[in-house]
Amino acid sequence: MTDPTRTPEPNPIDPAVEAALTASRSARAEALLEFARIPSISTQPEHAPDMVVAAEWVAAKLRGVGATEVEVVRTQLHPIVYGKIHEAPGAPTVLVYCHYDVQPVDPVELWETAPFVPFLRDGRFVGRGVADDKGQLVMHLSALEALRAAGKAPAVNLTFVFEGEEEYGSESLFAWIPQNRDRLAADLAVISDTTYFEGNVPAITIALRGIMYAQIDVELSSVDLHSGQYGGSVENPANALARIITALKGPDGRVRIPGFYDDVVPLTDADRAQIASLPFDEEAFRAETQVPALVGEAGWTILESRTIRPTLDVNGIWGGFQGDGAKTIIPAHAHAKVSTRLVANQDPQKIFEALRAYVEQVAPPGVKVTTTYIHGGEASLTPTDHPATQAAARAIRAVEGVDPVYIREGGSIPVTAAFDHVLGLPVVLAGFPQPNCNAHAPNEWLDERNFEAGTRIMVRLWDELATVPRGSEG
Ligand code: BES
Ligand code: MN
Ligand code: MN
Repeated sequence: MTDPTRTPEPNPIDPAVEAALTASRSARAEALLEFARIPSISTQPEHAPDMVVAAEWVAAKLRGVGATEVEVVRTQLHPIVYGKIHEAPGAPTVLVYCHYDVQPVDPVELWETAPFVPFLRDGRFVGRGVADDKGQLVMHLSALEALRAAGKAPAVNLTFVFEGEEEYGSESLFAWIPQNRDRLAADLAVISDTTYFEGNVPAITIALRGIMYAQIDVELSSVDLHSGQYGGSVENPANALARIITALKGPDGRVRIPGFYDDVVPLTDADRAQIASLPFDEEAFRAETQVPALVGEAGWTILESRTIRPTLDVNGIWGGFQGDGAKTIIPAHAHAKVSTRLVANQDPQKIFEALRAYVEQVAPPGVKVTTTYIHGGEASLTPTDHPATQAAARAIRAVEGVDPVYIREGGSIPVTAAFDHVLGLPVVLAGFPQPNCNAHAPNEWLDERNFEAGTRIMVRLWDELATVPRGSEG
């Protein structure tokens, strides 16, 4: 690291493990590329067989590092990969979570090369999943491989849960967790599915937003109608949908669904001051994102608006004629995918009911409107001062040479709240890609330096966590 403000420890990890990592650099890169060639898109049914291939790939790697009880657990949808390395009697047990599923790849024409033909060029991996979240899963596996090559075992007991439905709401995992409490018994969880802060600043995420995802369908008739013959005499589903959507959120960024904010816990002044202290450059963020202007919620900063305030967005909208030229019809139906991002204490089910009731209230007569729940997950919060969080901070400091910043993230990892609320585990969110890594977008990338650093941080983290007293409270 040439940055003079960063002073990594001279030997942040065991020299034998470092030697193994140095020797395996190209093999580890190749492993990520191989993994990223599997098109494991969880939301598209035609990729179901690829999900099994990806799960088996992960399971084989786990067996390769000497994990026991490795199992590709079949579920209603995509498999869960389970396994453990329990070779540290008396030490804490850590539940390690990543996901092997990825987002769809459209629009495919904007990719430099095919999304599932990943490459490493000029120190950058490019391909679907290299950052979110296959790269991070490979960092974990690589750290373990290097430990083994050095003849060592992790200093804590590790239980692995790698799922294939994170990008689709984690429904199978939600069902599986309460049925497998014994196999999941642990002292804490480590989730590697977040990022550094803007500008490649090492970070630990202390809060994630929750989510509630729904679809609104507006129907008029079984076929499109001639807009000259019928226009003016029937309700147009696309017009009706536009009215519904307009009613959902005001120009001030406030969600207008009655009751939407009822359960939101107010942020303390200290929290707001901590957020304001982060090295966030609004203009740099705007320029990076290439949007004409940023818009936040009235009364809140941009960083607050995108991380700790609940919000609502239309993810997609369709219906009627989409081709070139003109076609004079009243569409038979129109549709929208709508998601809300939620904060601590907001219940996705309750928010869905509020949305459904409000949509019914604002929908014009003359069309049939249905609102359907797709998936949901609660927000989560980890105390900064928890000993496990501090252990992760030491591991980052040792490898990166700077203290991590503590950030609240606007994205969601549905299982986080379940680890906390169902299993009662503190969760450390330690992730390593840069935040502008094009996750969910074309040309998703991961800097090889982040890949290398993250792998070493994992190695060091197991040592640091071994010193945390079991059952510690934050
Ligand atoms: N890794 C992300 C969550 C995330 C996003 C963490 C941004 C840090 C920064 C995760 O894979 C994700 O995309 N989650 C979905 C959840 C949803 C589909 C249930 C999300 O946030 O949209
Ligand atoms: Mn992810
Ligand atoms: Mn994702």
